[in-house]
Amino acid sequence: MDRTPQSVVVTGGNTGIGAAIVEAFGRAGANVVMDYVAHPEANAAIERQVAETGGRVVAVDADITCDAGLEALRAAAVENFGRLDVWVNNAGIETRRSLLETTREDFEKVMAVDLAASYFGAQVAARQFVDQGGGGVIVNVSSVHEDWPMPGNTAYCVAKGGIRMLTRTAGVELGPKGIRVVNVAPGAVDTPINTATMNDPEQRRTLTGAIPLGTVASPQQIGDVVAFVSSEAASYITATTVVVDGGIMQGSVGL
Ligand code: BGC
Repeated sequence: MDRTPQSVVVTGGNTGIGAAIVEAFGRAGANVVMDYVAHPEANAAIERQVAETGGRVVAVDADITCDAGLEALRAAAVENFGRLDVWVNNAGIETRRSLLETTREDFEKVMAVDLAASYFGAQVAARQFVDQGGGGVIVNVSSVHEDWPMPGNTAYCVAKGGIRMLTRTAGVELGPKGIRVVNVAPGAVDTPINTATMNDPEQRRTLTGAIPLGTVASPQQIGDVVAFVSSEAASYITATTVVVDGGIMQGSVGL
């Protein structure tokens, strides 16, 4: 269905889970294009790390919330690496606000980064894959909250729920062209998005206590799964979600 990936785009690739995804692809021998609207100072370390495994990272100053930004990432992959094999919609933000508190601005920001950028990122990638003659993989980094309410983080849950259906519907549409679409749904991960929780001893205890494996994930534990679902070894996985949550969704706080 797909070849071993050589040319990969990762959105939000210079921080958190994204950086671990870029490094995992580097270890697998792939070259990566990533955007970096935020934290340009973080690019060099990732570029060095991937260079050690023989791969290349091209960092593009691209805003993924507009068509021109997404197109710039596609073009950078094709210009630098000759084609596109995998597109990872990883970038995500959350506001930690309930329905009662969420402003229209909050909502639209979360939808633009988490959902619309994934939708139109998938479209840009799929059109490139079709032009190349089929094949290719789109991976969306969703969340356990694609399916599991997180009270106090409503807009985020709505966006992730949308990504859940994007994967299922686009996976069905694109299957006949040999293009796979897969969600990877992390639970709690030790990244900047969770800094406030991890720095508060009580919140940290409550969170880790709810995880059957007893600890939050490292970014690498998510990055490795993204690289796996993108590989030939996962060639029969499409239109579905691979949950990587240490069991948190099945866990129980019952007595
Ligand atoms: C959210 C985190 C949350 C975790 C587990 C993630 O998708 O970004 O804020 O701690 O899910 O509930």
